[in-house]
Amino acid sequence: MSADTVPDESTRVPDAGDDVLVVRSLVRRFGGITAVDDVSFRIGQGETYGLLGPNGAGKTTTISMVAGLIRADSGATLVNGREMGPDRVDVKHHIGLVPQNLAIYPDLTGRENLRYFGRLQRLGREALDRRVDEVLELIGLTDRAGDLTKEYSGGMKRRLNIGIGLLHQPRLLILDEPTVGVDPQSRHAILESVEALSVEGMAVLYTTHYMEEAERLCDRIGIIDEGRIQAEGSRDELVRLTGGVDHIRLNGSGDIDVAADALRELPEVEQVDADRRTLYLTVRDAPTAVARIVTSATRAGLSLTDVEITRPDLESVFLHLTGKALRD
Ligand SMILES: Nc1ncnc2c1ncn2[C@@H]1O[C@H](COP(=O)(O)OP(=O)(O)OP(=O)(O)O)[C@@H](O)[C@H]1O
Ligand SMILES: [Mg+2]
Repeated sequence: MSADTVPDESTRVPDAGDDVLVVRSLVRRFGGITAVDDVSFRIGQGETYGLLGPNGAGKTTTISMVAGLIRADSGATLVNGREMGPDRVDVKHHIGLVPQNLAIYPDLTGRENLRYFGRLQRLGREALDRRVDEVLELIGLTDRAGDLTKEYSGGMKRRLNIGIGLLHQPRLLILDEPTVGVDPQSRHAILESVEALSVEGMAVLYTTHYMEEAERLCDRIGIIDEGRIQAEGSRDELVRLTGGVDHIRLNGSGDIDVAADALRELPEVEQVDADRRTLYLTVRDAPTAVARIVTSATRAGLSLTDVEITRPDLESVFLHLTGKALRD
């Protein structure tokens, strides 16, 4: 379908499948910079998809195209099988966008803000009252609904921002780094709200540069850097890309070299490096292997003072794929 054909509301693109969102080969340039470079992914009903990447990776530009705020240079976005674009008001109705920057009125209460935005969505009076109560409950602000939002904490304002995106019960909710700069209590409340939405069957597109959030919330994660999705999969699938090995560090006194030789005999140990007081082991399945390793090192005369297991996480995956740390 060419970009200038506007299909009528009943037209579904044939190969969209059951996915709520299909993103195909999106490209967007700003001057000489290719901010988004051939990005594709899909999100099914009830699925939470994470775009995990550092500052400037192209997350906000990607979701701005998905939400129809800016035009793609090429590629396509289908929401419920219908093609999204800046002029597709009917398609935009299926998504809720929670932008990185807050969009709420400080001199209105939380409830008044929700009612105001709900009326813009053309919710009728009774439906609006009911929905505002539901949303307040979902974002954990029922108790503070009557307070002016200029008196809210940063995290409470963000939660209200999320609530506004939810009023019209979209099929797809898009959240752009919703926990940046919020207090731990609000962060917890935000993550819990997102989990609850996914249980209700909403599709969620969640951008973050916090790997803990991607690990906790997302069924699938696209690791994005320099405008490209470098790898995609569940947390466990991504971690396997690093080779699936764990690391164990042993500190102690005794003859380190004798202990190193003894440990090299163990089948689960792949590599042993030693310096004066420390052994660095590369092993398969560290939690299972550690008991045998400790026994073997002790038998070899090492008196252990410290044992540390490190298993790969998404941070290691990012490093493996890009050679860089996820955080500055
Ligand atoms: N309107 C614009 N004009 C020029 N360059 C832009 C514009 N918007 C984004 N860019 C550039 O595109 C690249 C991707 O930016 P984008 O905002 O999508 O990254 P991001 O992953 O959302 O980063 P952050 O985590 O900091 O929000 C950056 O190099 C940015 O400077
Ligand atoms: Mg951004």
